[in-house]
Amino acid sequence: MSLKDKVVIITGGTSGIGRVSAERFLKEGTKVMIAGTGEEKSRAVAEELGTINENVSYVKVDVSNYKSVENMIEKTLEAFGTIDILFNNAGITINKPFLEQTEEDYLKVIGVNQHGVFNGIHIFGKKLIELNKKGTIINTASIAARITGPTMMGYATSKAAVEMLTKSAAMDLAPYGIRVVGVGPGVINTPMISELKAQALDYLKNMHARKEILEPEQIADVVVFLAKEEASGINGQVVFVDDGYINFK
Ligand SMILES: NC(=O)c1ccc[n+]([C@@H]2O[C@H](COP(=O)([O-])OP(=O)(O)OC[C@H]3O[C@@H](n4cnc5c(N)ncnc54)[C@H](O)[C@@H]3O)[C@@H](O)[C@H]2O)c1
Repeated sequence: MSLKDKVVIITGGTSGIGRVSAERFLKEGTKVMIAGTGEEKSRAVAEELGTINENVSYVKVDVSNYKSVENMIEKTLEAFGTIDILFNNAGITINKPFLEQTEEDYLKVIGVNQHGVFNGIHIFGKKLIELNKKGTIINTASIAARITGPTMMGYATSKAAVEMLTKSAAMDLAPYGIRVVGVGPGVINTPMISELKAQALDYLKNMHARKEILEPEQIADVVVFLAKEEASGINGQVVFVDDGYINFK
């Protein structure tokens, strides 16, 4: 089954992995809803991508807010008439030593990364069932679902939860023909790592087998594959795209 004329919603679709995935899906002929935190930026990205393929729309969303995610799905239905794939990709990190992390920092990261993924699965899954449709949900986890380090408490906790949400939801939604999978990136060249100091980046590079950080295209290609019928045997599973990083524990 091809992805042509399917509809994908991409949260965090305005930058990094989300944006490159939008380009990849458009090349497959998929209709893409760019879901970003800012109306202006989402529209600008949608317009840029629209020059590649006009099957692109945008919506403002805060994935940590249930009603906002409901609105994102309603707006997608208004724009394209149906839904098929959700790429639950939005994420943030607040890197501070454990004792300097405030409760607010912790809850913010959990709110976007963990609760945001729950919201997406819950609302999108229920809507697919209501529409009597099959579909696929792809969650962005991280190597931090399996390994952690100083300053990573909130982020790693949230990503471990994304892996377990993926496994759990897959079991509950399988009877309805809905597949729930995840992608687990290593360290990727996106705005998320732009604040890292050179020394930290060197250390992280060296944790990959080929001593390089990865490019967002390498994640996007796997995301597109996971959305395809050819990946129908992969369910409840986070596929790590990390050049072996998690093996270097
Ligand atoms: N870059 C890496 O090294 C790396 C590694 C592993 C996992 N990841 C994960 O990949 C995903 C994409 O990150 P990226 O690397 O492309 O970085 P990025 O910062 O370019 O993308 C993150 C996107 O999430 C959006 N976002 C943040 N809060 C949001 C909210 N409340 N509602 C909706 N959107 C929100 C941002 O606006 C941004 O577009 C994230 O889940 C991140 O945790 C990244």
